[in-house]
Amino acid sequence: MQKYGVNELRRMFLEFFESKDHLAMKSFSLVPHNDNSLLLINAGMAPLKPYFTGQEIPPRRRVCTCQKCIRTGDIENIGKTARHGTFFEMLGNFSFGDYFKTESLHWSWEFLTQVVGLDPDRLYPSIYLDDEEAFKIWNEEIGVPAERIFRFGREDNFWEHGAGPCGPCSEIYYDRGEKYGCGKPDCTVGCECDRYIEVWNNVFSQFENDGHGNYTELAQKNIDTGMGLERLAVVVQDVDSLFTIDTNKALLDRVCQLAGKEYQKDYETDVSLRIVTDHIKSCTFMISDGIMPSNEGRGYVLRRLLRRAARHGRKLGIEGKFLANLSDTVIALSKDGYPELEEKKEFILNVISKEEEQFNKTIDQGLGILAEMISDMEKKEEKNEDKKDGRYLRREFSYSKFQQTMVLPDNVEKDKIEAKVENGVLSISIPKRTEEEAKMAEKVIEIK
Ligand code: SER
Repeated sequence: MQKYGVNELRRMFLEFFESKDHLAMKSFSLVPHNDNSLLLINAGMAPLKPYFTGQEIPPRRRVCTCQKCIRTGDIENIGKTARHGTFFEMLGNFSFGDYFKTESLHWSWEFLTQVVGLDPDRLYPSIYLDDEEAFKIWNEEIGVPAERIFRFGREDNFWEHGAGPCGPCSEIYYDRGEKYGCGKPDCTVGCECDRYIEVWNNVFSQFENDGHGNYTELAQKNIDTGMGLERLAVVVQDVDSLFTIDTNKALLDRVCQLAGKEYQKDYETDVSLRIVTDHIKSCTFMISDGIMPSNEGRGYVLRRLLRRAARHGRKLGIEGKFLANLSDTVIALSKDGYPELEEKKEFILNVISKEEEQFNKTIDQGLGILAEMISDMEKKEEKNEDKKDGRYLRREFSYSKFQQTMVLPDNVEKDKIEAKVENGVLSISIPKRTEEEAKMAEKVIEIK
């Protein structure tokens, strides 16, 4: 199989669906339009909701996109695993009351096997419980043997995202081979390990959920498909994670270069390298869509991502401002699909540079205050007979200082934070959530 790059795969997908009479539309902005249910666009179909419901007339009834998306729901996991990222691109073809299951499933198979060149014997479709129509298409028309078609329930094969258009779906899994497997005898499609990964979701969007679990049939039957571009690249390039596909790896290599570090040598270094790589990408795209750092809403998400990236850059030993430099690399790597990044480059780099400068000042001030606190406490300790014990800082104060300087995770309860000075070392510990997190948290924010 040829190891196509991310930019090539994006182009191949859009051109394939153009050849099937689809209108290839530019990615919509990350900022939702007329949709208060979302802070940021988080799925390929999200900006198209009014076309599914019939509220608005689409420019064509067949459309395809590569949509930039951001999900920050599990931000605390980003970096800790190589599976999570905040930024991703979603490839999708859509039918608004035009074609339905037959064409959708045939075309997804054709694209994967004939255009991308995936081995059909490694592909496994799944269907919603008793969706015999989908079963027949896979089995009788496309020729997938019955035992290779999996039936799953609502949790896996009914797609919905809060209120809006939804429906049963059929997914396509790819077997990456034993080397990615867990080795358990019952490991198969649906196993949590990295062997069988879902690459494409075909949603038969026929219902509307009012957000309270009431479903009504839509006037038209639609198709909403979604295939994560980065995940497809993982399969095609046969690499172990989102961070080692061509474009992300080039960015991660740049972070390594600035930090003078190597990837996959040390767990904590890898966590920081992945955080910086992921976050700077999200930030670059958010700013190109006009989001500015602030203390609320989307602006706060951006500020938080930028500050986390800055903090982990420091942790990696990068000195001075570095984020605009990395954003420049993001732009160079992604401008093929998003020419607006290049057009807005100066503006993007400026916003990043100013925010980083301000944050660096805050950190330096914060660290200065903490250093004074330490020395004050040490002076007091000299007169204290019980010198061996650590001295505890007032929680309220230490929390706010650390929140400002180190960007503590939001879910930390401040009265559970413990700040203590011992032998001139100030350390903060965050209450245990999981063993691993507690270990990380303590290390991250210990300052000497
Ligand atoms: N909406 C579905 C998804 O995001 C298919 O596009 O998976």
